[in-house]
Amino acid sequence: MSSMRSPTTTLLRPLLLLIIICLNDSAVADLGFLYNGFAGSNLLRDGAASVTQAGILSLTTNSFDITGHGFHPIPLPFTGEDGMVVSFSSTFVFTITPSPSGRSGDGMALVISAVPDYFSSRAFSGAYLGLGGPYYYQQQNQFFAVELDTIFNREFKDIDDNHVGIDVGSMVSVFSTPAGYSYTEDDDNIISTNFEVLRLSSGSPMQVWVDSDGESMELNVTLALVPMYKPALPLPSYTVNMSDLPLMRERDYSDDSVAKLYVGFSAATGDRHGATHQVLGWSFNLGGPAPPLNYSQLPLKQAQQIQRASKTKNLFSVGRCDGVPCAPVVVEEESREA
Ligand SMILES: *[C@@H]1O[C@H](CO)[C@@H](O)[C@H](O)[C@H]1NC(C)=O
Ligand SMILES: *[C@@H]1O[C@H](CO)[C@@H](O)[C@H](O)[C@H]1NC(C)=O
Ligand SMILES: *[C@@H]1O[C@H](CO)[C@@H](O)[C@H](O)[C@H]1NC(C)=O
Repeated sequence: MSSMRSPTTTLLRPLLLLIIICLNDSAVADLGFLYNGFAGSNLLRDGAASVTQAGILSLTTNSFDITGHGFHPIPLPFTGEDGMVVSFSSTFVFTITPSPSGRSGDGMALVISAVPDYFSSRAFSGAYLGLGGPYYYQQQNQFFAVELDTIFNREFKDIDDNHVGIDVGSMVSVFSTPAGYSYTEDDDNIISTNFEVLRLSSGSPMQVWVDSDGESMELNVTLALVPMYKPALPLPSYTVNMSDLPLMRERDYSDDSVAKLYVGFSAATGDRHGATHQVLGWSFNLGGPAPPLNYSQLPLKQAQQIQRASKTKNLFSVGRCDGVPCAPVVVEEESREA
């Protein structure tokens, strides 16, 4: 009997292995994603948000007083069975281009949220960056956001009109820091650390990396111009016990013990200022680093055209790259051809 079974087993084994590999692959896919441009994607969008033919996620046009959102359609399991938040990592390329006639505003944010539908009734424009108004907060509006804020709002204790902030369920950031990047300089063996300010609303494409470590609870945000390598030094780190956030203890919307949350973007313009807020590429991963974006697949040229139309200067200006060569420029400057 046993000698008759063995050929079947030898046949079955590779098949089983294949099935296990396939299952593993889909499990990995559910922990992250990569968008090198958004053409053909099925993001959950609302408000002014659209995906252009070139694959740009346009969150707002530069009309006044509007909001727009784009969320990855599948919620991700942020906590393990023990309720603790796993490490997460994300990177994206964005542009904020002010309306030709006025001040830029208000800004945009990378958002982790229990709900992906911030429809107009809940989404507040202006300084709320499309993240819901004061009444909504007290009810179910629990979000975690990394904001790119281009307006100084005294009522939200903003530090300036060009900062990166961490928001936990409120537009009063728990931490914020001026936008830019640090780099070290070696001058005759005297090493100094310098800070280069980046104007978020310059219209130039910039890249953000958000890296959170579940164990050390450290949250790093790093900002750079495109194209540039990731600066070695992040902006000042913030320590946050993500497992302690109300958002991460939400279980109602899921039938298991794991917090399944949506990730996406929110942006808004104000009643006296506007800007196009765009995302050109985005990746996200739970439990490890976010996959790198491929610059040559991002709709950078099309974003550049929008920037040129609004007559913003500093086209693709490349800053210092922390002692390492800047990444190769993949977008040709049309002015050179002319
Ligand atoms: C944050 O940045 C610091 C300094 O570069 C680094 O040592 C640390 O590992 C980083 N943490 C995460 C979660 O990326
Ligand atoms: C983080 O928060 C969780 C949930 O409240 C708690 O169980 C854990 O002890 C906290 N970790 C630290 C290091 O404080
Ligand atoms: C990036 O995209 C280009 C164009 O599609 C492709 O030729 C190249 O191999 C990609 N690079 C990587 C590292 O995947």
